[in-house]
Amino acid sequence: MSDDSDLSGSGSDDEPVESGPEEEEDRPVTAGHARVTKEQKKAAAQWEAVFAEWPTERAKALSRAERAERNMTHSSLVYGETPFRAVWAAFDRLHALGECTQGGGNFYDFGSGTGKATLAAVLAHDFHKCRGLEVLAQLHGASMEVLERWNATTHAALPPAKQRCDVRFLNQDIAATEWRDATFVFASCACFNEQLMRTIAEKGEECRAGCIFVGVAKRIDDERHWELLDESEHEMSWGPAPVYIQRRRTAEEELGAALAPGS
Ligand SMILES: C[S@@+](CC[C@H](N)C(=O)[O-])C[C@H]1O[C@@H](n2cnc3c(N)ncnc32)[C@H](O)[C@@H]1O
Repeated sequence: MSDDSDLSGSGSDDEPVESGPEEEEDRPVTAGHARVTKEQKKAAAQWEAVFAEWPTERAKALSRAERAERNMTHSSLVYGETPFRAVWAAFDRLHALGECTQGGGNFYDFGSGTGKATLAAVLAHDFHKCRGLEVLAQLHGASMEVLERWNATTHAALPPAKQRCDVRFLNQDIAATEWRDATFVFASCACFNEQLMRTIAEKGEECRAGCIFVGVAKRIDDERHWELLDESEHEMSWGPAPVYIQRRRTAEEELGAALAPGS
């Protein structure tokens, strides 16, 4: 590990941090995409402009400083970012599977940092509401600053359906948040510990059928309730990571999964 090894061996109750955020040198976050459409290019430029003051390194430093100050040693709090193109790629894959083809729905970003994945999602899909949940106050403050800039510079230039999206960043713990109205959850959870992943799985049981869960590096460990639709690898701020797409099963599908051989 790099200078961030402060998260291990400090008496925390966390699992060992494997390859994940903060372990490697940052790679440049660009908006490149295999098949970039005009719409994607425009959205990428809007996203980059809004985050111009918040390069990954600055956000990481802010996260580290707050964790050190508050003596927060949880590996779950390790910082890393999802590039714009990785969020778009998830939507591309979902569209290819016939999912997320209609506008609307409620998006949650579990551990939103400065808001990069949340605002990429606003640009990629016409959600009804988007919530970014971040437990670290300083990072949350950064996302609020970004949202102010977004509202001042970008909001008015968006198509009407996106202007109507209710975007909020909340300084809240995922575990203490009600999210059963989610239709789409994004979680960059490479460093989320077992307990947090278990809590997400337990709360996920209450989610409505059809809810999509996009997990970076980890997925919900609950075959009965969540069907794995897709798995692919994408470049994150710390290097390549698997991205899992799961879908909340219907009651009938749950029964089928429970009766499947080996379950
Ligand atoms: C790997 S970063 C992802 C940041 C952002 N979503 C992105 O993809 O660019 C994970 C974030 O989750 C936050 N986090 C960890 N545990 C959390 C919890 N229980 N509640 C809310 N946020 C949490 C961390 O502070 C960190 O900012």
